[in-house]
Amino acid sequence: MDLGLIGKAAIVTGGSAGIGRAVALRLAQEGARVAICARRAEPLEQAAAGLREDSGGEVLAVPADVSQDGDVRRLVEQAVERFGRLDILVNNAGTSAASPFAEVDDATWQADLDLKLFAAIRTIRLAIPHLAEAGGGSIVNVVNIGAKAPPANSVPTSVSRAAGIALTKALSKELAPQNIRVNAVCIGMIKSDQWVRRATSLGQDLDQYYHAVTRERAIPLGRVGEAEEVGDLVAFLASERGRYITGTAINIDGGSSAMV
Ligand SMILES: NC(=O)c1ccc[n+]([C@@H]2O[C@H](COP(=O)([O-])OP(=O)(O)OC[C@H]3O[C@@H](n4cnc5c(N)ncnc54)[C@H](OP(=O)(O)O)[C@@H]3O)[C@@H](O)[C@H]2O)c1
Repeated sequence: MDLGLIGKAAIVTGGSAGIGRAVALRLAQEGARVAICARRAEPLEQAAAGLREDSGGEVLAVPADVSQDGDVRRLVEQAVERFGRLDILVNNAGTSAASPFAEVDDATWQADLDLKLFAAIRTIRLAIPHLAEAGGGSIVNVVNIGAKAPPANSVPTSVSRAAGIALTKALSKELAPQNIRVNAVCIGMIKSDQWVRRATSLGQDLDQYYHAVTRERAIPLGRVGEAEEVGDLVAFLASERGRYITGTAINIDGGSSAMV
C-alpha cells in the first residue's frame, strides 16, 4: 500500500527516542521529510543521523523543549524554512507521570500540563496556517489509554491526556473545513527508552521487566507493544490512506483498555 507520503513534510516532537523515533523513521521511510525535536542536543543529533542512514531520507534536528513557547516557535519556523511546507504534525514528546492525587503538588500539575497539553496547543496553533497553505494536513496527538478510563493513582497524566483527547475532537470539527484532520493514538504499554530507564533504575533485566508488566496488566495479546507498531499506525493516520479519518482516538494497547 502506497501511503502517498513522498514529498510531504512532517514535525515529530520527542523524535530522538522510543515511539517518536519510530514514527519519524516510518514517515521518512515512506518518503516524508521529517523534523524531530528533543531537549538534549547530542542524542537528538545522533538520532537524526541514524534516521537519515536507516531511511535515506531528509531529517532535520531542532533541539527544543516543547513546554517552552519560544522553543516550539523555533521548531515550527525551522521546519517550514527547511522544507518549504508542512503537512504533518505529531505531538509525541512526553513522559509518564502517574501518582496518587495527594502526592501531586501544583508545580507537578503545571509541569505536566505544560509538557502534554500546552505543548500540543502551541504547536497546533503555529502549524495550522502552514497545514492550511499546503491544502490540508494531519495532526496526530499521542496520548495514553488512561485518558479514556483513568485508573486510581494516574494523575496528573490521565487528566492531561484526557484534555488531549478533548482538544483532538474539538479541533477535528473546527479544522475539517480546511482539510486538516486531527486524531489521537492512545498508547497502552510500548517498549521504549523510558522503560529501559525504569528497568535500569529498578535493577531489573529489561525482558523480565516487560514480562512482569504484561502479567500485572493482563495484556490480552500477551506482550508489550513495539514502538514500530505505533510508527505504522501514526504513519497511516497521517497519510493519504487515512484521509477520511478524523476526530478519533485509537487504542494501541494489545487489548488492555476496557474502553473502545
Ligand atoms: N511507551 C509507553 O508505554 C507509553 C505509554 C503511554 C504514553 N506514552 C507517551 O508516548 C510518548 C512517547 O513516549 P516514549 O515511551 O517513546 O518516551 P521516551 O522513550 O522517553 O522518549 C521520549 C522522547 O521525548 C523527548 N522529550 C521528553 N520531554 C521533552 C520535552 N519537554 N521537549 C521535547 N522533547 C522531549 C525525549 O528526548 P529528551 O529527553 O532529550 O527531551 C525523547 O526523544 C510520550 O508522550 C509518552 O507519555 C508512552
